[in-house]
Amino acid sequence: MTLRLTVLGTGYLGATHAACLAELGFEVLGMDVDPVKVGMLAEGRVPFFEPDLEALLRKHVETGRLRFTSSYDEVAAFGDVHFLCVGTPQREGEYAADMRFVDGVVDGLAPHLDRPCLVVGKSTVPVGTAARLRERLTSAAPAGDRVELAWNPEFLREGFAVEDTLRPDRLVVGTDSETAEATLREVYASAIERGTPFLVTDYATAELVKVSANAFLATKISFINAMAELCEATGADVTVLADALGHDERIGRKFLNAGLGFGGGCLPKDIRAFIARAGELGVDQALSFLKEVDAINMRRREHVIDRARTLCGGSFMGTRIGVLGATFKPNSDDVRESPALNVAGQIQLHGAQVTVYDPRGMDNASKLFPTLGYEPSAVAACEAADLVLHLTEWPEFREMDPSVLSAVVAERRIIDARNALDPVRWRDAGWTYGSLGRP
Ligand code: UDX
Repeated sequence: MTLRLTVLGTGYLGATHAACLAELGFEVLGMDVDPVKVGMLAEGRVPFFEPDLEALLRKHVETGRLRFTSSYDEVAAFGDVHFLCVGTPQREGEYAADMRFVDGVVDGLAPHLDRPCLVVGKSTVPVGTAARLRERLTSAAPAGDRVELAWNPEFLREGFAVEDTLRPDRLVVGTDSETAEATLREVYASAIERGTPFLVTDYATAELVKVSANAFLATKISFINAMAELCEATGADVTVLADALGHDERIGRKFLNAGLGFGGGCLPKDIRAFIARAGELGVDQALSFLKEVDAINMRRREHVIDRARTLCGGSFMGTRIGVLGATFKPNSDDVRESPALNVAGQIQLHGAQVTVYDPRGMDNASKLFPTLGYEPSAVAACEAADLVLHLTEWPEFREMDPSVLSAVVAERRIIDARNALDPVRWRDAGWTYGSLGRP
């Protein structure tokens, strides 16, 4: 009999996972405590922007393979495997992860589990969580230890969530149970057949793979941003440096784009939660370098603001700044921990009139920073600007003809904080072009 799967939590991770499991041929029931989300998803609408997801969701809502509910009772009755996909945001005023959603979903589900099943954690959690949750699950579930728990971290990137879920580069499963392993081999059979590495580990290793991968990526970005500081002090070019470093296969070119640094719902909070967890485990020294990674990253924002202030003649008072980009990266509508919005907001506090345009992030940005100005196009946002800031590297900005903006700005001055525009093109069009770590 085909396994019946449930997905608890329908944010970026859960909604994508549910639609992709349906695409793999399973019957899937998605669950969320938010009735608005459940209502939208059940109609085949995705509450956020993620390329290809809505088409996939609609397809499987129509085939009937994918349904949504807000009832734990229904989830428990339906599923053989329950995937936990709720968020673990940063705790207010602390570095540690807020585990209330993970704990809440376990506490909500467990009392309904009255037959053997497998619960699979996918959320990014502090190491030690799976062992703690197993105890909590089996003691609250009527089926007791016939309820198994495995940890199967998710590595998807926003903007490529469907692609990454359907074609992951590796599968990691933390479990000591052969039944759990066999069940997950069945769920991921198509990827395994294609040769995707399937690594079975203990709980702690599985949990650590995820956070250490994110810590490594964050470190790589901060490394090149630190080199950008050196480049600015010496007249060197960080983009050429990155290309040259990247030709060494041991280093690789990916994630060596210097600029405004990393943001989003994962890397910043994950490295902080990792630091906090290391402290609890008495090995804080092992991760003290991550504090520096975080500091280098946050310094990028200050640096762009300082550069912008200098270009505005030493003060933002009374200036108009046009901002291109609000999301934390292109191909997303996510503005969580967005370096772009953070810079826009700070410059406004320093007395500038700031107007923002983003291809997808306007709704979320205006909710988070309602006092910034918003315009529906790059041209409108840069109207009469004394300075333009390119803060998120959307293709639309990269492809833009500088003369389109030349016609509307007060001064042809731009800072390309993502090193993504063509300096020659902008300078040839009469612009003062500044970037980060390039002459
Ligand atoms: C990240 C991880 O990549 C993913 O594996 C994990 O599951 C979740 O966290 P995501 O948050 O979607 O994914 O974004 P990612 O593409 O990794 O980019 C993170 C940030 O780093 C963005 O703000 C991006 O602009 C920045 N970045 C990325 C750089 O500044 N330079 C780079 O070279 C690469």
